[in-house]
Amino acid sequence: MLKSIAVMTSGGDSPGMNAAVRAVTRTALHQGVKVWGIRGGYHGLLDEEMFEMVSKDVSDIIQRGGTFLGTARCKRFQTPEGRMLGYKNLVDRGIQGLVVVGGDGSLRGASTLSKETGIPIVGLPGTIDNDVWGSDYTIGCDTAANTIIDAMNKLRDTASAHRRIIVLEVMGRNSGWLAMVAGISGGAEYILVPEEPFDLDAICENMKEEYAKGKRYILMVVAEGAGKAAEIGPIVAEKTGLDTRVSKLGHIQRGGSPSVIDRVKASQLGEHAALAIISGLSDIVFGFNRGHVVSINLHDAVNNKKTLDPMYMRLAKVLA
Ligand code: F6P
Repeated sequence: MLKSIAVMTSGGDSPGMNAAVRAVTRTALHQGVKVWGIRGGYHGLLDEEMFEMVSKDVSDIIQRGGTFLGTARCKRFQTPEGRMLGYKNLVDRGIQGLVVVGGDGSLRGASTLSKETGIPIVGLPGTIDNDVWGSDYTIGCDTAANTIIDAMNKLRDTASAHRRIIVLEVMGRNSGWLAMVAGISGGAEYILVPEEPFDLDAICENMKEEYAKGKRYILMVVAEGAGKAAEIGPIVAEKTGLDTRVSKLGHIQRGGSPSVIDRVKASQLGEHAALAIISGLSDIVFGFNRGHVVSINLHDAVNNKKTLDPMYMRLAKVLA
């Protein structure tokens, strides 16, 4: 049984990270284990920005987006010297295990730290991109998808009013998951994702035909990994001759009060992470598979690339 653990959020923030940290903290305290909060991701680990938490420290945060601990992408932690300093800072405080909530890059850092030092580490997938291998869910992806749909509903009003094509760029880094699920549930006519090649000429021809048949407007969702709306929009305008506008949602997608799904799933994952690390388990990421919490090998999670279920591609085409 470990007696003292730490928890941190790292990389891009995502709605639900707070719920995860709250669950880790309260579960550990419930087990009589000390919990340290690390501020600002790996930066805080290196700069000794850590504090011992009590239950009240995680009050009033479950409903908030972002992460109350703060987060960062930390170049120094990518060096062996940086990681050794981080390890020393943990050991100096008697911290015996670490829970890292973050995306691909953050979990990669955790994987290396564990290999180099042997300190027990449990990861939780925290990113709006839903791109962590082994889990069909990452904390924040549901809220982000809902934010995109909300924007699409609004864009639809103005697109319809003006008979316009709207090209909407959404986040996701190299993954098309966000674009795909938002596109399907927001009723987009075209969804461009990095996982599937597309023929813009053919798409534009199709758009002209649809307009000729009486279509009033078109929504096209572009995953940032598939291309830039600022470049695709003008091409569409030129090739179709149709009134076209471009919209990029940007960091709005990362914020906002977490959805019920993100709050509940992050809480479940947080509880699992705390219990696992306290019992001495290590090198695990907890995620979801078909609705159930599963444990994934940390190193496998960061060394494999998650693919987009082809079911989405098929469905998007049938429904468009
Ligand atoms: O990984 C989350 C994410 O929001 C990606 O979708 C996006 O490409 C990236 O982070 C943006 O990073 P930053 O906040 O550093 O601009």
